[in-house]
Amino acid sequence: MSGGTLRYRLGGGGTVGGELTVPGDKSISHRALMLGAIATGTTHVRGFLAGEDCLATARALEALGVRLSWPSATEVNICGVGARGLTAPASPLDLGNAGTAIRLLMGLLAPQPFGCTLIGDASLMRRPMERVAAPLRQMGARIDTRDGRPPVVLHGGARLRGIDYALPVASAQVKSALLLAGLGAHGTTRLTEPAPSRDHTERMLRAFGAHLTQQGRTVSLEGGQALRGAELEVPGDFSSAAFFLVAGALAADTALVVRNVGINPTRTGLIEILRLMGADIRVRPHAAESTEPVADLEVRRSALRGIEVPEALVPLAIDEFPVLFIAAAAARGETQVSGAAELRVKESDRLAAVAEGLAVLGVEHALRPDGLWLRGRERFRGGVIDSRGDHRIAMAFAVAALRADAPLEIGDVANVATSFPGFEATARAAGLQIEAL
Ligand code: S3P
Repeated sequence: MSGGTLRYRLGGGGTVGGELTVPGDKSISHRALMLGAIATGTTHVRGFLAGEDCLATARALEALGVRLSWPSATEVNICGVGARGLTAPASPLDLGNAGTAIRLLMGLLAPQPFGCTLIGDASLMRRPMERVAAPLRQMGARIDTRDGRPPVVLHGGARLRGIDYALPVASAQVKSALLLAGLGAHGTTRLTEPAPSRDHTERMLRAFGAHLTQQGRTVSLEGGQALRGAELEVPGDFSSAAFFLVAGALAADTALVVRNVGINPTRTGLIEILRLMGADIRVRPHAAESTEPVADLEVRRSALRGIEVPEALVPLAIDEFPVLFIAAAAARGETQVSGAAELRVKESDRLAAVAEGLAVLGVEHALRPDGLWLRGRERFRGGVIDSRGDHRIAMAFAVAALRADAPLEIGDVANVATSFPGFEATARAAGLQIEAL
């Protein structure tokens, strides 16, 4: 996104309530486009996230020769070109702010006969890519990065072979990229994770007719399998619902309900953590379960208490920490998060960004290399927060306004559109006093 000038202004205090929905899941929307592109036949996706990140993936696939049509903004038909049907793009593919797009495309494109270059915005150009490039090289791919970061140059034309690989970090982006590369490789790709990460790729590959085996933390896939176009329904993004779960826990006098949210257990660590803190969250699962489980989530205000967040829950809540820290900042007592060094290499250094924002709110805290300690307080101070261009930092501090004694201004919020187009309107309908300047 361009910009950097767009700001939010939030009135301090207030309550939230009512019913709302959130846009489609970002992780699932990226995967639907990519798998649909290399399948044979048409894939029809409903509930697609028309956010900047997924639109960057859509544009990249079009540049690779894939035809997309849009019956509506949240519905897309992908005319699959099959495993060998992608064509060389005329220029570098610009993935904007989207880490999932660049890393998964590295895996999708590594087995292709043509080369291409992947770039992004200033934030993406700082993010680590060797975690994907190194195992892809082991598979036989020829890839260059610049000091481990984009531009990523894929030389193409290599014959890939499956590998046995133990991921050093629990990362669904790494796992997914290697599964996509494994599809185009000879032999078996066998990946072992140190802890479970989101499994949307595995579920969706099966929905496209692929066969995978899962044994404990090891997933295996045979190369050369053909994918068949699929009918997909994308649920609401749990990571977007998360802002309203915390808003409700802080300030819903009557219930706040978020309808139609994906509750894949590899994503819902925040519910477990908030419950450990004393939150009242009810999950009402929908009856018909397709590839992904879906539920309505209901939350009411409760007195939260600080906790030591179990490290095993960190990968299952990895994108929710910005707003979880806000819940902790409003809780009674101390909260300790460790084992979360990955937060330093997201769209921003989220530990540093949160710590800086907590200082503005007047929350006592200590930044650690792999986490954060803080002591909650009843009310926050108002002031000016720098979101560092990170969508989730911006939305998290918007929620913090519910406990602020004075207005909060949040800078550089244009990237909220990467994952949550319409956040401002949804937040206002829920009860936040928010305006964009
Ligand atoms: C994602 C995986 C996670 C997450 C990101 C989306 C995905 O990243 O933080 O927002 O769609 O696979 P890592 O794989 O780097 O943990």
